Amino acid sequence: MNILSIETSCDETSVAIVKSGQAVLVNLIASSLDQHQLYGGVVPEIAARDQIKQIIPLIKESLLKTKLTWKDIDKISVTTNPGLISSLLVGINTAQTLSVLKQKPLIKVNHIKGHMYANWLERDPSEFQFPIMILTVSGGHNELMLMRGHGDFELIGETLDDAAGEAFDKVAKMLNLGYPGGPLISRMAEKGNPDAFSFPGGLKQKANFDFSFSGLKTAVLYTLKKEKYPFSEKLKADISASFQKTICETLSKKLIHAAEKYKVKEIHLAGGVSANTYLRELIQQKINKHFTNQKIVFRYPEKIEYCTDNAAMIGAAAYYS
Ligand code: KG4
Ligand code: ZN
Repeated sequence: MNILSIETSCDETSVAIVKSGQAVLVNLIASSLDQHQLYGGVVPEIAARDQIKQIIPLIKESLLKTKLTWKDIDKISVTTNPGLISSLLVGINTAQTLSVLKQKPLIKVNHIKGHMYANWLERDPSEFQFPIMILTVSGGHNELMLMRGHGDFELIGETLDDAAGEAFDKVAKMLNLGYPGGPLISRMAEKGNPDAFSFPGGLKQKANFDFSFSGLKTAVLYTLKKEKYPFSEKLKADISASFQKTICETLSKKLIHAAEKYKVKEIHLAGGVSANTYLRELIQQKINKHFTNQKIVFRYPEKIEYCTDNAAMIGAAAYYS
């Protein structure tokens, strides 16, 4: 079963062909990132205009690269929500037109479900064991989801304000590091002292699986207001390291508590922030400490390109829907 999938929910235009929800035959990603950098965030109008230019050449390229023809494509899938409406429409219109023209069934996929299925790419599905606790952390989403089986999801907690990736992006903007902030903060943090500043992690109660990062963001802002501008490299590194430690501590603590409470067999990390090495290591350390009598499988996407927005994950989610 070959599914040609399209993802255009933010600034990326991505086209992939995935075989049986697992083998990525091709995963092409074009980004308009450099056009947004000047503004410190994604400008929807610019993103959509770029996607209109990219989408058809990428579909052609995906078939050329895999040496497949439309006869080899069984279904088409596309991200339908959530996302930037003008960007989503480029993908949806293209997928619907192709579905009618080439007479292929169309599968609509939720973007967050796509992120959660990024962990199934290039892995043997027979090795997975339910239930699974999934933390999806990206620029727009921050969710703890219990997965009891395919199509059987229960929302355990979510952010009440900013998503983790958004907090990374906003702190990077305060430090004048650029956009997107996640990788830049994480690189800066390597040179800093994570204990230099004490910031609030938000919603500390053990039984509360929701997140709130607006207090953390404000604390960073007020700390910086007391400092002389332009900020020194040392200050930027220390703020980055202390911020990263705080947010990753909160994310990993809640994930581990939820995994314990719901007695899961696997823990998955997904979304753009799952590319963060510090977060991955912290979760692994906490798993080793908390699950001494039980084996827990910890997975994050096989490749960095499956952490951030991509169409391959949409193809995997479509296969299981
Ligand atoms: O999943 P994604 O590509 O888009 C959304 O669905 O939002 O996630 C993008 C987010 C951005 O906020 C970016 O700063 C963050 O993921 N990100 C990271 C890292 N790489 C990307 N955050 C922390 N550490 C990283 N290494
Ligand atoms: Zn995303």
